[in-house]
Amino acid sequence: MVTLEQVKASEIVQQYLKMGNQFIGNIGAIEHNIQHAEQTSQLCRHILTTLGYSEKEAELGAIAGYLHDIGNLVNRYGHGMSGALMAFKILLDLNMDPEDIATIMGAIGNHEEQAGGHCVNNVAAALILADKSDVHRSRVRKQDFAVFTSRDRVNYAVTHSGLNVDPQQKKITLCINIDTSVCSVMEYFEIFLTKMLMSRRAAQYLGCEFELLINDYKLL
Ligand SMILES: [Fe+2]
Ligand SMILES: [Fe+2]
Repeated sequence: MVTLEQVKASEIVQQYLKMGNQFIGNIGAIEHNIQHAEQTSQLCRHILTTLGYSEKEAELGAIAGYLHDIGNLVNRYGHGMSGALMAFKILLDLNMDPEDIATIMGAIGNHEEQAGGHCVNNVAAALILADKSDVHRSRVRKQDFAVFTSRDRVNYAVTHSGLNVDPQQKKITLCINIDTSVCSVMEYFEIFLTKMLMSRRAAQYLGCEFELLINDYKLL
């Protein structure tokens, strides 16, 4: 079975993740760097493992998490779909089982809210939860507050975010701390509503309830 370590060792993967992040950085997008790939990968594995899915599914989740934003190299728009096709070639070259490649392609191709963000399999659901919970001030690249978009401001407001998976209670909780001098709790909720609803659907797909806590207020 192909492992995350093998995928990470691929030079083309490392290079394309870096270049894709550089390209979208040139048009002002927030960081989608190796750290985001690593974090999404680890969290995706953690969600699947904690909820009792097989080690194999968790490994596929870790790989999907690592590769999910590779399509930024082609274009920010539709990066889920272009990324899925890029992953196809990369994983085929590593001799991954066709069924496993399909699982990962479906997950990557459905992680964006613009493309509907549907949970087509367990890995897709875990990927949505992992990706959407990586919100943090450190991902904003712009230095000048005057040119921040509302999305930059909302990301910049977040001083801490963490996802808690409780297999006994069947509950997945996203805990976020925001600096309300940068943006209000309601503003955060408004701008990230689509992402949060996607996360709720994803949690439900995995048989869990989704909870959103912002500065200890329960919003979902
Ligand atoms: Fe993405
Ligand atoms: Fe992402």
